[in-house]
Amino acid sequence: MQGKRVLLIIGGGIAAYKCLELIRLIRKAGGVVTPVMTRAAGEFVTPLAVASLAAERVYTELFDLTDEAEMGHIQLSRIADLVVVAPATADLMAKTAGGHADDLASTLLMATDTPVLIAPAMNVRMWEHAATRRNLATLMEDGVAVIGPNDGDMACGEYGPGRMAEPEEILAAIAARISGDGPVAGKRVIVTSGPTHEPIDPVRYIANRSSGAQGSAIAKALHDLGAEVVMVTGPATAPRPQGPQIVEVESASEMMEAVQAALPAQAAVFAAAVADWRVVGASDSKIKKDESGKCPPLEMAENPDILKTVAQLPPGKRPALVVGFAAETDDVVANATAKRARKGCDWILANDVSPGTGIMGGAENAVTLVTADGAETWPRAPKTEVARLLAQRIAEALADEGVA
Ligand code: CTP
Repeated sequence: MQGKRVLLIIGGGIAAYKCLELIRLIRKAGGVVTPVMTRAAGEFVTPLAVASLAAERVYTELFDLTDEAEMGHIQLSRIADLVVVAPATADLMAKTAGGHADDLASTLLMATDTPVLIAPAMNVRMWEHAATRRNLATLMEDGVAVIGPNDGDMACGEYGPGRMAEPEEILAAIAARISGDGPVAGKRVIVTSGPTHEPIDPVRYIANRSSGAQGSAIAKALHDLGAEVVMVTGPATAPRPQGPQIVEVESASEMMEAVQAALPAQAAVFAAAVADWRVVGASDSKIKKDESGKCPPLEMAENPDILKTVAQLPPGKRPALVVGFAAETDDVVANATAKRARKGCDWILANDVSPGTGIMGGAENAVTLVTADGAETWPRAPKTEVARLLAQRIAEALADEGVA
């Protein structure tokens, strides 16, 4: 990031205070920050604090004769290698999506021809509001990159998605975009996610309770670190992450084919809850009830084990790092350790899916990472946080092994 310039637009939200740390991190990484503050941002952090940390002047006003004489707003919008909006409030997102230009921040966002990265932060209801969803979709269609928000406790006392991504995460996303030097930049990673549906006939299928939330979060976290991610997903209810390439499949056999088509890759994470069995000879027409009350016999056959197949590919074809999941209800670590050996993968993330943990289909996960070096239990955390930690560990492992 040496010498690269970030135009940092600070929006008016409580997360604005985290920008002070972000500025420090960007400068520590060798970058230069030109700070812009909205009027509301000034209610949360002082221009003096921002200017002191950036060691640059802070721009706040659109119609400022001194600013226009020194550097016009059009020029200001173009001097940077990346425009970063943090925190991106609901209002700033709406203005940008709608093409408004009634203050310096929104005008710069309209006038710039530089890539834009936003770090949204707002109350969870505001984040989930239909207007914000629409604005987010529009911004992404317009090519705006998005980091976060994360799940967690919020300043307003509520819990959920809406917390701004941490400064370290934003820095990694900036580095990945500016100089392609995110920790997994240039690495291809396949992630499987969600349940599979195994058809019985055209209207019925066998499925499971996986929501796909953990797989989606992992795909997003790896993308945020700069990886080229292919997410192969079954019919999951979780929203698809923006950024990764998404391949939609239904059954385990289709998932197997899609994963094989996505190879080669440097790493693969198998978070999907793949059905172990499929119905042999699924009917092409709807099976009718038998007058005599006899149930139709369902003959089952074993599905291909995608994780095992990929983990046991010959060297050269096998991804350098293969990560599986183990959904267990008893003897979690012992079963996961045995599963790691049986499947031939490098790591297993074991989670206790006993009823009562609320993990299957819930927002949180409690995992134990089983590697060749033993087992390591992580604190229970939102699935987005587990994903961030895992992505970080994958980045470190690929760097340690010198995987190109
Ligand atoms: N998996 C897969 N393909 C399958 C079945 C499982 O890729 N046909 C992957 C899952 O994505 C997960 C891991 O294998 O990463 C563990 O799956 P699990 O169903 O728990 O393992 P099984 O070998 O089926 O063992 P169990 O007897 O515990 O069900």
